[in-house]
Order: sequence, then structure tokens, then C-alpha cells
Amino acid sequence: MALALAAPLAAQETPVPRIASSNGRHALIVDGAPFLMLGAQVNNSSAWPAAMAKVWPVMEALHVNTVEVPIAWEQIEREEGKFDFSYLDLLLAQARERDLRLVLLWFGTWKNTNPQYTPSWVKLDNKRFPRMRKPDGTNHYALSPFGRETLAADSRAFAAFIRHLKQADPQNTVLMVQVQNEPGSYGLPRDHSPEADAAFAAPVPAALIKQTKKQPGDWTRVFGRDAELYFHAWHVARYIDQVAAAGKAIKPIPMYVNAALPGDPFTWQEPKSYASGGPANTVIDVYKAAAPHLDLLAPDIYNPDHKAYRGFLAAYDRPDNPLMVPETGHSKEYARYFFEAVGRGAIGWAPFGVDGNRYLPTLPLTPKLNAEAIAPFAANFALFRPIARLWAERAFAGKTWGAAEPNDPADQHQQVMKLGKYVATASFGRSDFGMAPPKGNPEPSGGVAIAELAPDEYLVTGYRARIDFALADETRANILYDRIEEGHYDAAGKWVFERVWNGDQADWGLNFTAAPQLLRVKLASYPKR
Ligand code: DGJ
Repeated sequence: MALALAAPLAAQETPVPRIASSNGRHALIVDGAPFLMLGAQVNNSSAWPAAMAKVWPVMEALHVNTVEVPIAWEQIEREEGKFDFSYLDLLLAQARERDLRLVLLWFGTWKNTNPQYTPSWVKLDNKRFPRMRKPDGTNHYALSPFGRETLAADSRAFAAFIRHLKQADPQNTVLMVQVQNEPGSYGLPRDHSPEADAAFAAPVPAALIKQTKKQPGDWTRVFGRDAELYFHAWHVARYIDQVAAAGKAIKPIPMYVNAALPGDPFTWQEPKSYASGGPANTVIDVYKAAAPHLDLLAPDIYNPDHKAYRGFLAAYDRPDNPLMVPETGHSKEYARYFFEAVGRGAIGWAPFGVDGNRYLPTLPLTPKLNAEAIAPFAANFALFRPIARLWAERAFAGKTWGAAEPNDPADQHQQVMKLGKYVATASFGRSDFGMAPPKGNPEPSGGVAIAELAPDEYLVTGYRARIDFALADETRANILYDRIEEGHYDAAGKWVFERVWNGDQADWGLNFTAAPQLLRVKLASYPKR
């Protein structure tokens, strides 16, 4: 009787998620251990109670462990100073029922650079919350990073949001918070208000001089062609850092900002051709100096070209920046880049705009989001869900590699991974037998992933690919397989042996089809003489 009447037990408080870094490697620590975020981001207008019924079934079909959902300023503070967290509470409850974690996206001063997610009392009051000015003195659409009242109001709202989270989420269903969404401005590289002009003529801040190892001077003198880009990035980053700091003072949950990227990572592009002021690959150093409260800067990758995708991953995978891809295209050609990202040790990866609410598709998103369209993403996540913790731990140790099928003929449908003592070659579009050169899959869709479990022992998996191992140094010894086990990991993380691959299944490399298969491969060698 007493038990039946007792109030429900308070949720168990767990340690706040954090980013751990060591030897230039990173991990997202959740419940005390490295966590690999297998994510998906909902559509912008799906973050409302009425839309959620069409979100959860897709998340279940995708096998994600984390869902990225916006929390908009206009949604929580429609009237200044009056906060409504009813949606957030519903979201937390519904995610917990499904054993899913969340990443929340603060749509505030900047959403794709635009202020459309600020409440009406902000976006309609240009005096109190000024927009950027063009050189001729007229208003640009984006809010100015010099707006002190804007910064104060955004910080107050963000702090109220994080305060609510601290009280409503002791079990840390929410793993990270994105502060703003693709900030900056299109079409105008910097603000030209009198205050901004004065700052542009002033010396570059010492922290940025130190970070970029330049000689002191004003912005034009120090950064030349990139002066406006760097200047705007600095001021937007300083603004976001102060918003993040207001939240972190309440709950020190990991926080990051996402970037709208230039067309490719290799060539210089006019700053007005992409979101100037955001954490693009061109200004990571500026953000590092200006925004110490951000745990990471993250690329939204919508370029499906293999070299460009890898280039963007490489740009954000730094000793001072954990790699995470919070948004990527959801057309099927993007699915293979999951292998490339997690192979590099990304802490998370998420296709954008995957839920059952129907909106007009935006290129390069796929025109029809149905079971067939999400299948390649679902296959990746289903393969990785049982090994996500193990993978994250190995990635933190720097012992993971991955490759996605290239689309450039010069790559000859192959990718090479240097594992140390061994070299692994992934090739795409080969039959299960024979040494005929790879032809590539009918569409680039293959991927492989390798984790070192112990010396000479590797966890190996992939789709539509062959993997061959060789010794890095072949002068004195020849390689051989000691044993190739196929199996799976049980719920407790224990390897369950199923069978041994040998004979035809090993003589022509390890051939992965569209079936989910996990191998534990023990390599060995014998002397040449
Ligand atoms: C990038 C943005 O960050 C998302 O919110 C969304 O607008 C996508 N682009 C695709 O439209």
C-alpha cells in the first residue's frame, strides 16, 4: 500500500556529459565512457508537439541513438521575460521513453544567418536590436554582432533554457547544445555600422594575433584579403562565446557551433559567397581564439564529392577540435561518408532533415524521403549500434580507420589505410572471387571501418567493399591470417562467435556485401627465410 502511494522516484542524477581530449584525440564522455553519436536531425519545423508523432518512427527505423532537435528562441520566449518550456519537457519525456539521447539546437540570433527564429519583439525592433549595416548605411537582413541589447537578450533566454535543462534533465538525456545555427551573414562580409567601422580600423585583438602568429596591426594590415572575413568571424564568435558562457555557468554541458561551408575546402572563395562570420573551415583559428567556451566547431557537409568531403573532415579534425558532423545531406550518396567520419574518430555524425513530416525538399536533399531513401543510413547505424561504445573507446585511443568509396576515376576505386604495422586497402566493385581490378559499385556506395582491438587483432566491417591487409614492411616477412571470426556483440558488449571465414572467404580478401557483417581478424606473419 505504502509503495503504491509513494511518489515516483526522482530521476537518477548522472555526471554531466563532457568532452575528453588526450594526445590530440577526443571523446564525448556520456555516463562515464566514450559515446559515439549515431544521429539524425529533424526538419526545422518538426520541433513542435503536433509534429513529433511523425519524427519517432523514422528515428526508430534509422536505429539512431541520438536525435538533434531545435529549441527556438521564439518558441520559449514569445513574450519578453515569460518562458514556456512545455515543448522541451515533452521532448525529454518522449526521448526517454524510447531510450534516445538528444542534442538541442539553439535557434537564436542566427539561424542560417537569419533572425527569423528570434521572437517578434526582437526581429521587429530594429532600434533595440540593430541589423548589420551595408556600406551605404542601409540595413542588411542579419542582426549585428555589435547589438549589445541583442546579446543580452539572447544570453538571458539561453540561460533560462539551460537553467530549465539543469533542473529537468538530471539524467542527461541531452548530450550537447548547439549555440546558434549556421551563424554569420550572406552577401555582406561584415557589419558597416559606425561602431563596427571603428572596430575594423582598430588593432587586431592580442588573442587573435597570438593564435595566428601574425605581427600586430589593424585588420587590413594583418589579414589583407581576409580582413573582413576574419573581423566578422571574430565578432560573431565573441558574441556566441558570451551566450555559451551564460549557459555553461549554469550547466557545463558540451556546446558547439555549426558552419555553413564554402563550396569546397581547397580553393579561396569570396566571403560573400558563403556565410561570413560563421565557423567555416577558413576561420577555425579565429573561433578558437575568440570562443573558448565552445567545445567544438562543426561542419555541415552538403558537398557529396569524395575529395571535398574528406577535405572538410580533415579541416575540422584537429588536436584542438573534436570532429563532429551535426548535419550532412540525406540523399543516399552521403551514407558512405559515415565510414570516413567514424574512421577518423568523429564523436558523432547525423544526416539532416530525416523525419516523416513532409516539406518541400531542398537540394541536395533527396526529393522523396521514404524507407528506401533512409535505408543506407539505417544500415550504417544498425551495424554500429551494438559496437558504438567500443568504437568510441578505440577512436579515443586513435585506433580506428575508415574509408568511403571515391568518385574520382583517378582513385581507381581504391582507398588505402595505414594502420601502423599493417596497411589495409579497401577496393570497391569487385566480385567475391578473383583479382580482377575494381570497377566501382554501380553508384559510389561502399564503405569500410577498422578498429584495432589488440596488437595484430582488428574489428573489421563494411558494406559493398573488399579489404586486403598487407604488412607495411614486407622485406622480411609475409602476412597471413591467423583466424577470421564472424560474430556479433551482445547487449553486454561481449563478442559472440558465429563462424570462421577461411578458404574462398579469405583467399580473395575480405568481401563485404550489403549484409551487415562483423569480423574479428587476427593477423600474423611468417619469415621469408
Ligand atoms: C543547414 C541548416 O543548418 C539547417 O537548419 C537546414 O536549413 C539545412 N541547411 C537544409 O535546408
